[in-house]
Amino acid sequence: MRVFSSNKELLKSINNQSLIGIVPTMGSLHDGHLSLVKKALNDNNQVIVSIYINPTQFNNKEDLKAYPRNIDKDLEKLRDFKDIIVYNPSDNDVYDKMTSKDYDFDELGKVMEGKYRPGHFNGVATIVQKLFTMFKPNNAYFGEKDFQQLLIIKALVKKLKLRIKIIGCETIRDKFGLALSSRNNLMSKEEKGDAREINKLLFKAKKMYISYSVEEIREKVKEKLNSLNCCKLEYFEIDDLGRYSKFLVEDGKRIFIACWIGKTRLIDNIPI
Ligand code: PAJ
Repeated sequence: MRVFSSNKELLKSINNQSLIGIVPTMGSLHDGHLSLVKKALNDNNQVIVSIYINPTQFNNKEDLKAYPRNIDKDLEKLRDFKDIIVYNPSDNDVYDKMTSKDYDFDELGKVMEGKYRPGHFNGVATIVQKLFTMFKPNNAYFGEKDFQQLLIIKALVKKLKLRIKIIGCETIRDKFGLALSSRNNLMSKEEKGDAREINKLLFKAKKMYISYSVEEIREKVKEKLNSLNCCKLEYFEIDDLGRYSKFLVEDGKRIFIACWIGKTRLIDNIPI
């Protein structure tokens, strides 16, 4: 494993002729991130894992401050993989000015995360575009855990006509079904108990979809979640991916949820 804080130094160490895969992360690595790394190592000759908490995608300063930081543990987890190149930059190596570009992702940028976290996808797209421009990878790996983000990145690549393949990787969960997330470490034991209800509810909602309307299901989900001690529903949607056809060739329906567990905001989704 080689670790770089300068993109110029990192570039000197990669061979342009080889297949390059990139796994962008914000660190506090867990098995979800590591599943992306494994897939990337399987498909490419060289793999870059970026670890950078990107300030421009946080629409809330408190959230940025509270975001977990564990670089020593992260490097420890990556040490087992041979031939990994880690990019762990300072803000200055990435941004001249700490601002995001203004993208137009049409409807896709306005719903769900786009609606509740204004500016978030502009920040995500800005950093991902920077990483793509710096390292010109052939393949880039993103988790379905952040499904709307995955679609935004696919849309970005299409808009900018980049020759990069975006590979979506399945969500890794704990044995109770809770999607692994760096933010899970911020929850108390009681909060974690409530968080484990989220996935169960998604599967119940999927069953209900045969006989109930989205509005009826949303009401039931809201009732159940809000009855828990630490939980508050932010949004629940059953979305038809076909409606984003302006940028994407996706189809099928998915259930999306975002909720607050105490001060921690969690998202999850499953296909219908
Ligand atoms: P982060 O939340 O660290 O996630 C990095 C990548 O890991 C994302 O593609 C995310 O979808 C994936 N991931 C997270 N939890 C997962 C799980 N349980 N199973 C499978 N994949 C999972 O997403 C970001 O960082 C940032 O927005 C980033 C893309 C790095 C831009 O700053």
